[in-house]
Amino acid sequence: MLAESLSGFAVVEPAPAKINLALAVVGRREDGYHLLDSLVTFAAFGDRIGLSPAAEDRFTLSGRFSETLAAEGDNLVIRARDRLRAAFARHGKAAPPVHIHLEKNLPIASGIGGGSADAAATLRALEALWQTRLPHGEREALALGLGADVPMCLAGRPLIARGIGEDITPLALPALAMVLVNPLVGVSTPAVFKALASRHNPPLVMNDAPAGWLDAIGGLRNDLEPPARDLCPEISLVAESLAATDARVVRMSGSGATCFALYTSEAAAEAAAAMLAQRHPRWFVTATRTIGGSDGEA
Ligand code: C5P
Repeated sequence: MLAESLSGFAVVEPAPAKINLALAVVGRREDGYHLLDSLVTFAAFGDRIGLSPAAEDRFTLSGRFSETLAAEGDNLVIRARDRLRAAFARHGKAAPPVHIHLEKNLPIASGIGGGSADAAATLRALEALWQTRLPHGEREALALGLGADVPMCLAGRPLIARGIGEDITPLALPALAMVLVNPLVGVSTPAVFKALASRHNPPLVMNDAPAGWLDAIGGLRNDLEPPARDLCPEISLVAESLAATDARVVRMSGSGATCFALYTSEAAAEAAAAMLAQRHPRWFVTATRTIGGSDGEA
């Protein structure tokens, strides 16, 4: 199905890719979840959700990665719909049947929050269609129950995430030219966390961007990158290929395998993406940009 096919839906909501520009693992909770300190932004590229009122609930899929998802059965879009409807029922609010369409443009299990972004976009789109919201606090708790990255995706703007991801501080960050590359090898998030050498690393220390944001971000790190590279050697190949371009920063996002590279111009990002797509036709390669500080305001 073509992208234009979403035009017939009553609500169309973007589900932008989440980019961990940096991620420190600073501790561990008693339940095994890890405490993070992460600089997060979103791409001007991602999945899309289309919603329309319907006689009964329906879920349809399109997009490059729709088949991988359909094969997996359970998905976060359906879970988000069901939990929001149950919460609305508790508040005596109507939540009638709905046709949800997911245009799946992001690779699955790839460290850029595809499933979390879809869940968050489903919540936003259903709130628009049903014209009501859960009270503040309850809304965020429902999001967190769907996954540690869902609250940040619900915020959908540059931020610092702490706790297991639910403690969010908005941040002003400019739009940055970026290339995303994934070798199309899925990486298991729990496996990467398990393989961490140290679960107590220092938090991120950001300089006040004296020489610009690219230098400030370049000085940071992703603590999940070494264990993910051990589990999935293709990540090193992706990172080396990006480092051989004009990139100013090259790093893995989340638990991988997607790596991002930042450039001083969109032209440089597009040239790098064209070159990589030609050399590695099997990889997922896209030139995009990060959203600016105010783009993603809810
Ligand atoms: O919350 P979510 O389902 O996205 O997390 C998937 C898995 O990743 C968790 O079961 C856990 O093993 C790991 N995780 C973690 N610490 C986090 C987030 C995720 O250990 N902050």
